[in-house]
Amino acid sequence: MSGTTPKTVTITLDGTNRKLTVPLMAGTAGADVFDIRKMYNALGVFTYDPGYGATASCESKITYIDGDVGVLQYRGYPIEQLADSSNFLEVCYLLLNGELPNAKQSAEFNKGVMHHTMLHEQIRQFYNGFRRDAHPMAVMCGVVGALSAFYHDSLDINDPESRRISAFRLIAKVPTIAAWAYKYTIGQPFMYPRNDLTYAENFLYMFNAVPTEDYKINPVLSRAMDLIMILHADHEQNASTSTVRLAGSTGANPFACIAAGIASLWGPAHGGANEAVLKMLSDIGHVDNIPEFLSDVKDKGNHTKLMGFGHRVYKNYDPRAKIIQQACHDVLKELGIKGDPLLDLAMELEKIALNDPYFVERKLYPNVDFYSGIILKAMGFPVSMFTALFAVSRTVGWISQWQELIEDPEQRIGRPRQIYTGAAERAYVAVDKRG
Ligand code: CMC
Repeated sequence: MSGTTPKTVTITLDGTNRKLTVPLMAGTAGADVFDIRKMYNALGVFTYDPGYGATASCESKITYIDGDVGVLQYRGYPIEQLADSSNFLEVCYLLLNGELPNAKQSAEFNKGVMHHTMLHEQIRQFYNGFRRDAHPMAVMCGVVGALSAFYHDSLDINDPESRRISAFRLIAKVPTIAAWAYKYTIGQPFMYPRNDLTYAENFLYMFNAVPTEDYKINPVLSRAMDLIMILHADHEQNASTSTVRLAGSTGANPFACIAAGIASLWGPAHGGANEAVLKMLSDIGHVDNIPEFLSDVKDKGNHTKLMGFGHRVYKNYDPRAKIIQQACHDVLKELGIKGDPLLDLAMELEKIALNDPYFVERKLYPNVDFYSGIILKAMGFPVSMFTALFAVSRTVGWISQWQELIEDPEQRIGRPRQIYTGAAERAYVAVDKRG
């Protein structure tokens, strides 16, 4: 909408003579927003927006979503084209730097990231402190946060070179941290990263290989892994990214901020949904049980949700879900899995839900998590690793958004207001006088 005549919005407090005219800001695409920063001083009121569904918290040049039509772009490039033609490290470069790299930049960047894949040897000790059945996300919250205790030389957030090295370290080390979290739970030796492999191949290697045998990388699976990583790399101001930005706004170091993002991603309404979808499908068990399950979902007293459906921004099919659904078929074919019952069940559930007035009226469509669990399960990942894989892929988005925040002169400490509805001021009552 840029290039249009500048517009303003006038806010009048009914019944008073208080009025404020504020600028309407236009982005490259998407809805205009009006700037309410002066509103409290001028009118003495704040806005009320639980869940921030109507609030733009920052200006960003990284990712654009048009939820009404189902569009997702990284730095202007449609997700379908990136999924089709790019690779994860190239997408990382794009998200961090704003442009696709040329061949030289790409080679330097790949080498720069892959140079940092090892963890400080002492970090190994941390794993022994966890129970063997620790959830990989619990391990990731702890170990990623602990990186700040090891890499003191890149903690100066005001130094661009420190920020660059921290970004490299985070992107390079999260696959090692996640793969080791898995190896720890199954009692296998940790596999050290191999920098001669691609990012996705290296992750599959650390996850699957054992020191006693050769590990052959299946190109279809490493391509699927790379694709899943591209699709999850960034998604503008979602809950975990906003958490990273909020933590970053205080001046906290990047490792601490990304650990906060991992914690936020864990919930079933966000990144934990992929795990919840698989549990839901197993609970439903058979297509014959779909109607009963959906009637539970529609019963408001029941608190059952159709996991993997609905999105704060997409009021149309999530474009990532379309790509993943196709990839599911490719991977299952490659693995020789004919008629996977979970995929069949998911497709039938999707078909029925998309024709049900409850979901149609509320514009609830499958999101990325509806099919990602099925493909990850087929690739041999246990359900508990699903959200950890999301975290591995999203780290680049978080660190790109964190970097943008630090470089944005308009950003201040994140500090929302509230409407207080508790008790009015009252006098303290001694314990013997209380009823
Ligand atoms: N199943 C049943 N009803 C739903 C669902 C669902 N999955 N999602 C939304 N609704 C209903 C909701 O109850 C409400 O109904 P009503 O107007 O009668 O009160 C209406 O649809 C609007 O929903 P909302 O709660 O206002 O939507 P929201 O923007 O606050 O929530 C969401 C978005 C993603 C948290 C929600 O759709 C949800 O919980 N979905 C299931 C969990 C899920 O799949 N999460 C992954 C999101 S995509 C990946 C990621 O972000 O990590």
